[in-house]
Amino acid sequence: MKLAISGKGGVGKTTLAALLAQVYADAGHQVLVADADPSPCLAGALGFPSELRAQLHPISEMDALIEERTGAKPGTIGGFFTLNPRVDDIPERFSVMYKGVRLLEMGSVDTGGSGCICPESAMLKTLFTHLLFRKDDVLIMDMYAGVEHLGRATVDFVDAMLIVVEPTRRSLGTASQIKQLANDIGLTRCWLVGNKIRNDEERTFLEAETPGIPVLGFLPADLGVQEADRLGIPVYEHVPTLRKSTELMVEKLNTLLMKA
Ligand SMILES: Nc1ncnc2c1ncn2[C@@H]1O[C@H](COP(=O)(O)OP(=O)(O)OP(=O)(O)O)[C@@H](O)[C@H]1O
Ligand SMILES: [Mg+2]
Repeated sequence: MKLAISGKGGVGKTTLAALLAQVYADAGHQVLVADADPSPCLAGALGFPSELRAQLHPISEMDALIEERTGAKPGTIGGFFTLNPRVDDIPERFSVMYKGVRLLEMGSVDTGGSGCICPESAMLKTLFTHLLFRKDDVLIMDMYAGVEHLGRATVDFVDAMLIVVEPTRRSLGTASQIKQLANDIGLTRCWLVGNKIRNDEERTFLEAETPGIPVLGFLPADLGVQEADRLGIPVYEHVPTLRKSTELMVEKLNTLLMKA
């Protein structure tokens, strides 16, 4: 199962990615999570202890590695570098595992939305492609801003793109744009996840106003989410209602995609 998670800033992508990862891991799957946030925070959401977090460094910031693999210094514009550097050893070498979840911090590269290619973006894109081609049991990608790391060649390997929304028109607007970008590269298996839901009214609002994206499920608003963050423990352990809702979504997804 390979899932990409996207949505407007602050809607709960990282919270959902961590919940899904732990649900799959506890069901006995081998799980690899790729954190593509410019300031990675999945390790915190997964409750990685500080000694393990200290071992994690975003790939996009590994200048020496990027230069070794692409043949050019990060930050270089123009000039020659390889567009498909060797990356096959990276997941094992740089990921860290905790409670059955293996985490790889990808980091991100600001290409100003231009899709420009620099050594570090070539590295990340090749790495995402490699992760999608790998035979991992479960891959969860916290895509942060959109779909820029995915391309036409890889979308067939993405089982589903989950677009997280809050019950607001603004986050639905972003969801609609993400869906369009996903469709543009041929990724049509998109589902909406409504987060921070306080009542039936908000649930009904999302069901009625979804921009043509089927709803996979809802996660309730719960002050325990912030509390878990303060206490440094995973939402998965601290807020049973969110864990339960995520388990239901995984079941539904398995049925939808006919995967056991
Ligand atoms: N179900 C929920 N109930 C209450 N608060 C929530 C819930 N889900 C997420 N939050 C809070 O919303 C904030 C954003 O959550 P999160 O970091 O998961 O979002 P994100 O989409 O990954 O953000 P970013 O775009 O910055 O990466 C956090 O403070 C988190 O504690
Ligand atoms: Mg995030």
